[in-house]
Amino acid sequence: MLIFTTKEALKNHLNPIYKKNKSIGFIPTMGALHIGHITLVKKSLSENSVTIVSIFVNPTQFNNSSDLENYPRTLKQDEALLQQTSEDIIIFAPTPQNLYNGTVTSLKFDFGKIESLMEGKFRPGHFDGVGTVLTHLFNAVNPIRAYFGEKDFQQLQIVRKLVAIKCIDIEIIGCAIYRENNGLAYSSRNQRLSENAKQQASIIHKTLIKTKEMFGTNNAEQIKKFVTSVFKNETNFDLEYFEIADVETLESIKSVDHSKKYRAFIAVFAEQNVRLIDNIALN
Ligand code: PAF
Repeated sequence: MLIFTTKEALKNHLNPIYKKNKSIGFIPTMGALHIGHITLVKKSLSENSVTIVSIFVNPTQFNNSSDLENYPRTLKQDEALLQQTSEDIIIFAPTPQNLYNGTVTSLKFDFGKIESLMEGKFRPGHFDGVGTVLTHLFNAVNPIRAYFGEKDFQQLQIVRKLVAIKCIDIEIIGCAIYRENNGLAYSSRNQRLSENAKQQASIIHKTLIKTKEMFGTNNAEQIKKFVTSVFKNETNFDLEYFEIADVETLESIKSVDHSKKYRAFIAVFAEQNVRLIDNIALN
């Protein structure tokens, strides 16, 4: 397994690969890898000649400095997990200085209304940070395909916009959410939760399943009221938002149009202010 820590070293290695027109699949991550990431990696291994995983905790996408500080960093474990998955994986783990050419700041993007909703509303500047780091990473890796989990569904739609706006020729592939046995969506942030909190956090997915059952016989307002009442009674979790939104525009719905697809989206704070997000397809 190869590990590169600078764009220059990575490019030197990749140049002959580009010349041979080999397909490169890319999985951008912030490390603290889990089985959800590994399913993306395996998909890339099966679809491409070369698979590159970046491990980079991106400072510009954190609107909260303590969230950035507390973000789990487990590079050695990540390397071991990738090594077990396949010897053929290339890891790219640059420093902020190297990836950002010395200036670690966000570019400004116009992703339209989608950037101001849900994650965009509660994490100002987050999607500019994601757009910025992915612009740098896509430039450094130059893949043909890039893989993203649907847990961060809004991010996935933003990435699709990013490649469209910037005319970047990369196929963006969304992969289904991977869940623990109790339904909790795999997330690097789960590492900060006690076993007890992880068990209790199954309430998030259970509530989403219930909203799916209610969809069709209840309107969005009634479903929202139900979710709010569930979390009012959950002393260990604080609901930040719950929305039912159109999957394309991510705008909250007022009434259902059966030709469209909808998802329910949720963000919740657990112990130690660990922020968990999840979503479910409703139709
Ligand atoms: O989803 C993530 O882990 C990050 O937002 C990403 C896409 C790697 C950009 O830093």
